[in-house]
Amino acid sequence: MDAKPILITGCSSGIGRCVARGLAARGYRVFASARRQEDVEDLQAEGLSSLLLDLADSDSIAAAVDEVLKHTGGQLYALFNNGAYGQPGAVEDLSREVLRQQFETNLFGWHELTNRVLPVMRRQGYGRIIHNSSVLGFVALPFRGAYTASKYALEGLTDTLRLELHGSGIHVSLIEPGPIESRFRPNAYAAYKRHIDPQTSVHRERYLKMEQRLLKEGPVVPFTLPPEAVLKKVVRALESRRPGARYYVTFPTYLFSALKRLLTQAALDRLLLRV
Ligand SMILES: NC(=O)c1ccc[n+]([C@@H]2O[C@H](COP(=O)([O-])OP(=O)(O)OC[C@H]3O[C@@H](n4cnc5c(N)ncnc54)[C@H](OP(=O)(O)O)[C@@H]3O)[C@@H](O)[C@H]2O)c1
Repeated sequence: MDAKPILITGCSSGIGRCVARGLAARGYRVFASARRQEDVEDLQAEGLSSLLLDLADSDSIAAAVDEVLKHTGGQLYALFNNGAYGQPGAVEDLSREVLRQQFETNLFGWHELTNRVLPVMRRQGYGRIIHNSSVLGFVALPFRGAYTASKYALEGLTDTLRLELHGSGIHVSLIEPGPIESRFRPNAYAAYKRHIDPQTSVHRERYLKMEQRLLKEGPVVPFTLPPEAVLKKVVRALESRRPGARYYVTFPTYLFSALKRLLTQAALDRLLLRV
């Protein structure tokens, strides 16, 4: 069979970049998308096929899918939905607009892109859709409400889609990483600076602590893994005959998944308040 085409979002850095490189090396025909022209050029300079795709922009999503299909003769083996950001901030400090923006990128864009490729996969009778969720797709942490809500919503939409695609030959998997080395924290810091004013918040003191964590270089929590750990699980979701519904990455994800089942909510909350 020819190299299998896969479209990946959010390849300018972190997990997306690593998975794009890793799958290209493995023989996939990777379309590594990014939302900024300079990142597209950078990816192209590395020898990857790259194109613009901004998940917050419907026209950009439509144009990107058209372009990929033009190059593949209308085929697409897989979509790895990955591009996202974390909007820090206490729930009571999030405006409707800021929450909306978080969902535009982290959820609505992923849904719209998925809906654009599903007719192609249905015509083929096969396909793989892989959504990069998070340990925060099933447990919550303070000051990460917008991001956590977007990942919980993603989990709900993905679980539903998996049931609806039963028997279609199209498989949907969630990847659930814990802490992974990437540009996630610097990007979250930028979103925090854009949208949260600590001076007017009752949480002012907590924000100052959070700023220190966001600005710290290198891992801030134990068990942080490099993005290659995610690549491994993406390969399994792509190549298993019967891919799993969920692939956990990092010890904290396995741990919290177990604790969520074992502990009472009150006990789990006490633990989460100390993370
Ligand atoms: N790092 C972790 O600890 C961790 C843990 C669990 C889950 N995840 C998930 O892993 C995925 C990748 O994150 P990462 O850790 O690799 O962080 P990252 O280095 O910040 O990468 C995020 C990517 O998403 C892109 N992106 C942001 N907004 C976008 C938009 N509107 N349209 C298209 N792309 C957009 C970013 O592009 P720009 O450079 O243009 O902003 C970047 O390429 C995310 O879904 C995240 O939720 C990460």
